[in-house]
Amino acid sequence: MAARPVLDALAGDPALVLGVATGESPRPIYRALAQAHAAGTDFSRMRCFALDEYVGLPADHPASYHAVIRRELVEPLGLDTAEVHVPDGMADDLLAVCATYEAAIRAAGGIAVQLLGIGADGHIGFNEPTSSLASRTRIKTLTARTRRDNAQFFGDSAVPTQCVTQGLGTILEARHLVLVAFGERKAEGVAAAVEGPVSARCPASVIQLHPHVTVILDEAAAAELELSEYYRSTYATKPSWQQL
Ligand code: GLP
Repeated sequence: MAARPVLDALAGDPALVLGVATGESPRPIYRALAQAHAAGTDFSRMRCFALDEYVGLPADHPASYHAVIRRELVEPLGLDTAEVHVPDGMADDLLAVCATYEAAIRAAGGIAVQLLGIGADGHIGFNEPTSSLASRTRIKTLTARTRRDNAQFFGDSAVPTQCVTQGLGTILEARHLVLVAFGERKAEGVAAAVEGPVSARCPASVIQLHPHVTVILDEAAAAELELSEYYRSTYATKPSWQQL
């Protein structure tokens, strides 16, 4: 079900521009896309832009987002590597990397569908709390909490302190946002994002400013939502003409 927005968009445009997130949350979507690929769906013209990358982590480090995207998307879906973009966190001139990344997204015609996970503190991409809601692709410093959360992927090596991330303003320009969250660890951030005030304190709350957002949750991640009965009945009675 969660892969539906991507597969529907791809059916309408084989050269779909997909914004891809890393982390556990989008993995079921990537697995479903891989199954579709095995069943004959052609992804060879799809174009991808990653949300973010660590600064100073070589692309062949298994925890780098270059490596994650290669493992979870490029190889299983048979993507064209020339059309898969991840910010270069190893470049000497990171400001130029940020500007070039923004220009590449624009040149591709913008992102049609943007997949998003959410950090326990409400970050999307690596836009940590207090990120400007108008921010563009830029260098950010990770919070101690995010570095702790992501330490599991680094074994003995240290989690980098900085990253390059699409900004919240950049993310808002994608035409459809699909935010995915599972597990009770996400419940507080999800509730703040969906029902809280729009505030840089919870960067994911910026989704409230977007006209087309799909939020996909399990029961645990939805547990702190106050209006969950309303969302359930809305979904159950969704008119057939109204797609995701
Ligand atoms: C990292 C990524 C985010 C991701 C978040 C949550 O910080 N930069 O894009 O959403 O982790 O990851 P997970 O889905 O594994 O909980």
